[in-house]
Amino acid sequence: MMTMLATITSPSSTLKSTTTGYLKLHHKFSVSVSQFRHRRRRIHQTLRVFAAASNTSNLVEEFDPEIPVERALTPPSSWYTDYQFHRCELDRVFYGGWQVVGYSDQIKANRDFFTGRLGEVEFVVCRDDEGKIRAFHNVCSHHASILASGSGRKSCFFCPYHGWTYSLNGSLVKATRMTGIENFALNEMGLKPLRVAVWGPFVLLKVTQDKSKKEEDIESDGSVVASEWLGSSVGRLSEGGVDSTFSFICRREYTIDCNWKVFCDNYLDGGYHVPYAHKGLMSGLDLETYSTTLFERVSIQECGGGGSKAGEEEDGFDRLGSQALYAFVYPNFMINRYGPWMDTNLVIPLGPRKCKVVFDYFLDPSLKDDEAFIRRSLEESKRVQMEDVVLCENVQRGLESPAYDKGRYALVEKPMHHFHCLLHQNLKI
Ligand code: FES
Ligand SMILES: [Fe+2]
Repeated sequence: MMTMLATITSPSSTLKSTTTGYLKLHHKFSVSVSQFRHRRRRIHQTLRVFAAASNTSNLVEEFDPEIPVERALTPPSSWYTDYQFHRCELDRVFYGGWQVVGYSDQIKANRDFFTGRLGEVEFVVCRDDEGKIRAFHNVCSHHASILASGSGRKSCFFCPYHGWTYSLNGSLVKATRMTGIENFALNEMGLKPLRVAVWGPFVLLKVTQDKSKKEEDIESDGSVVASEWLGSSVGRLSEGGVDSTFSFICRREYTIDCNWKVFCDNYLDGGYHVPYAHKGLMSGLDLETYSTTLFERVSIQECGGGGSKAGEEEDGFDRLGSQALYAFVYPNFMINRYGPWMDTNLVIPLGPRKCKVVFDYFLDPSLKDDEAFIRRSLEESKRVQMEDVVLCENVQRGLESPAYDKGRYALVEKPMHHFHCLLHQNLKI
């Protein structure tokens, strides 16, 4: 109607009015196109996520935990190579449960802190000015810079990028050059908390927040967490000498070209590979006495010391003692207790085909100054570890070959089967 009127009154205004109408129409049309494209992109994204989830779900179901070990097939090689499967493991296995990230001596005094990375999660753990243990995402609220690095002692977290400063309880105390910025409140820009707990010598984190809990950034009750993390194995581990009386000696890290589960599988084969791959270690163990006990999320392998005097060598050197205990805590933590030593192995996934294993060595305090014993023990341990690295990298190459998909278990490999059943339970949708 408006256009008709314009046509009668003036040709130029007709043109103007028509152009305006066209522009309005074009604008409306182009908005619709961009909305359409945006929606189409979102639909494609959703479909991709859905397809990936359904693909992962198919892969998970390729392993049947109901089949007993005598008849079971191992999980398919795609569990060890597929990127979407790896993503799903990060979300469900690593972020959803308690994870060891360090040892309590690292945050012994107020203001001590350490940092680390789990999957894509950068974290910092500290003991604040009041002695409370806290953990946060180690990411600045301004432009996402990593905030703290390494470990040590600090009175606050100072961002190296633009100088924003956070207290050890995570609150933002200073935001530089923000005068004139509207709707900005310091108290809404603090660090994002993570759940943290200490059990014995171990510091644990949980990435996925439990919405029902308040004050998630404050230390959780260690004994409550231990029962969730270790189940009924707590007593057996304490009896076996896993406690916090040991002195920390050193940390060794190995990056291995294999999926994180290859390393765990190797640990969980009930000593099967020891006579073939660790001839040196074998002389210190009596494999006839090898036994395995399965708990809810923990498996404990035990073995007596070999040799004439319980593992002692001719010159009296005895790293392993009379009894060795190897505890695997699902999904990726191993506690090894032998002779005067306790060492822990933490297996961190770095991608479908790469992992890092962190060895922390703890020793009976009466021997902590015996440098010769420590050096020789660490050399032996390293030799065994390097033998395992070769085995694990060879297995990964075999898993990637078209010649292999699924294998079989030997009866001694029950702890490995238990591990795969737990993974299946954890990953099924
Ligand atoms: S990114 Fe931290 S202050 Fe800018
Ligand atoms: Fe080994």
